Amino acid sequence: MKKDLSAIYNQSIENPEEFWGEVAKDVFWFKKPTKILNKSKPPFYKWFEDGTTNTCYNALDLHIDNGKGDKTALIYDSPITGDKAKFTYNQLKDKVSKFAGALDNQGVKKGDRVIIYMPMIPEAVIAMLACGRIGAIHSVVFGGFASNELASRIDDSQANLLITASCGFEPGRTVEYRPLVDEALKLAKHKIKKLILFQRKDHEVKLIAPLEISWDEALSNAKDKDCVEMGANDYAYILYTSGTTGVPKGIVRDIGGHIVALKWTMKNIYNIKEDDVWWSASDIGWIVGHSYIVYAPLFKGCTTVLFEGKPVGTPDAGVFWRVISEHKIKSLFTAPTAFRAIKKEDPDGKFFSKYDLSSFESLFLAGERADPDTIKWAENLLNVPVIDHWWQTETSWAISSNCTGIEMQKTKYGSACKAVPGYDVKIIKPDQTIAKPNEMGDIVVKLPLPPGTFPTLWNADKRYEENYMTNYKGYYQTYDAGHIDDDGYIWIMSRTDDIINVAGHRLSTGAIEEVLSEHQSVAECAVIGIKDQLKGQLPVGLIALKAGVTKDNETISEECVQLVRDKVGPVAAFKIAIVVKRLPKTRSGKVLRGTMRKIADKEDYKMPATIDDPAILDEIKESLIENKILNK
Ligand code: COA
Ligand code: AMP
Repeated sequence: MKKDLSAIYNQSIENPEEFWGEVAKDVFWFKKPTKILNKSKPPFYKWFEDGTTNTCYNALDLHIDNGKGDKTALIYDSPITGDKAKFTYNQLKDKVSKFAGALDNQGVKKGDRVIIYMPMIPEAVIAMLACGRIGAIHSVVFGGFASNELASRIDDSQANLLITASCGFEPGRTVEYRPLVDEALKLAKHKIKKLILFQRKDHEVKLIAPLEISWDEALSNAKDKDCVEMGANDYAYILYTSGTTGVPKGIVRDIGGHIVALKWTMKNIYNIKEDDVWWSASDIGWIVGHSYIVYAPLFKGCTTVLFEGKPVGTPDAGVFWRVISEHKIKSLFTAPTAFRAIKKEDPDGKFFSKYDLSSFESLFLAGERADPDTIKWAENLLNVPVIDHWWQTETSWAISSNCTGIEMQKTKYGSACKAVPGYDVKIIKPDQTIAKPNEMGDIVVKLPLPPGTFPTLWNADKRYEENYMTNYKGYYQTYDAGHIDDDGYIWIMSRTDDIINVAGHRLSTGAIEEVLSEHQSVAECAVIGIKDQLKGQLPVGLIALKAGVTKDNETISEECVQLVRDKVGPVAAFKIAIVVKRLPKTRSGKVLRGTMRKIADKEDYKMPATIDDPAILDEIKESLIENKILNK
């Protein structure tokens, strides 16, 4: 029977409690919730507050109870090491409950925080699920972040246990975790009590007892642990994301709403059923990895793929097609940059023609704006719908999308389609009025947000309220700007804060500036995100030196690049630091980052009326030309 998207959407907005109360019946509860939504303390809403459940139970045990234990839950495919493995729901549950026992042996209790700093290997997924099994709160840190970032997450979360591996593999480079972890442990003020390290084949490192034990040792005397009963508003995880300052924000996810919403999305947004194979080519260190490599597909009871590789170079631009064909994948979710990388290496799709992709039905893109050229190229090549959808770490699932499992909408290139049921999206203007169709403004979502979105920030209710819920009373401020057209399609055009998007990775220019300011020769600096054909945006640092510095500019630039790599991590892709004479500012001293970005991107700009010295913009232009960012 054809479903009517607008009827479902309207019901979710007009009667959210009834809507989500009904959806919640599809998940396992130890105690079913009777209170669907507590609205008594806005903006702190609570979904399903008197329900009790368990994340891991819903991801694994439930399907085994339903007779699906022999079905494949997880496929691991590493074109980097050549390793492949499959785990049925039974096998994954056995591994997870044993590792949960290992965590218990190490003294991890309900509510304790556990940092997971690991490459894309099954043990990372096992560690995440094991935390959920015993009610510990995991905080996964992306492997491309350096020690400083790891240390700040240890300090903020006050974690007692860190789970890591001996190394990760990037194309042509082994990422040794050991020195990164050692440095982070030194930097962190909060002291980790225990470290469990997974030794990768042929890459064993030394461990120092009694603080450190290997994964195998931890398992050796562990007993299987059952799922503990957790309150729906207890936390499943903290995921740190870039904020408007260098201090990352700890996005927390409550247990009940997370299960309810994510399970619902698999069928309704992605049209994935229990017997389908699903692949999200992201990293478990990002929200896409949390939600769509691990949780949503496992809540749904389908098969999910964990891919340790890149779209190109592991070994070639045909690897995505090989994986889809070999594992009979129905839908793939990745970032547009991955497709831009494939398109660059294999514009005519020569690799594509080698594989049978008859199982493949749709491609979903998110994480950054999907440029129409890339969407059209992918559509032509794959001959399946290519769907751009928009979401954020804060929400954990799509705010706008084509809901392919409800009613397929036509594609408008450049738009991330319509608001998903649950999200009342509006465009608001600086004067606090709601914009008319096609008028630009800040994109906001009317409160309460649906289940699965962040109920607060870790230990920072005030920051949550001030940062997201204050500028527009009664709304969640997404910090994206754009418009909604006459047909209700949402067009995401830019960020309104200092966040830039590099290869689908969210980075704070403020955080990079903080690091650059630590260089002894730097007086002041500005980091802007300039357009890049492959990665969407790239950070460029403009640095003004202290008086009397005698070191040459080239050396200082190189040192600044290395400093960011060491402190933020290689993922920042920070390769350009330009020494300039002065930075352009307003008369009140505000650095004109937006104007410099427009100059670098060759966009039209108006000379700001409040500019202190317009000649500085010409100097900046000259520097950009000298550094081949701008042509003459
Ligand atoms: N551990 C350690 N280092 C990592 C890492 C990890 N998990 N992930 C990336 N890095 C490093 C890379 O090795 C690279 O280092 P380098 O400067 O020594 O080359 C740097 O961080 C930048 O990485 P990346 O942004 O991945 O760029 P790339 O040039 O290696 O690859 C793409 C470009 C497009 C192939 C790659 O960005 C990609 O696959 N993107 C897919 C999109 C995606 O997964 N987005 C996540 C959110 S959905
Ligand atoms: P993250 O929290 O890392 O998922 O990053 C969220 C941000 O990425 C959003 O606020 C947007 O700025 C950007 N983003 C995500 N998806 C899209 C999309 N489909 N189109 C445009 N921007 C997007």
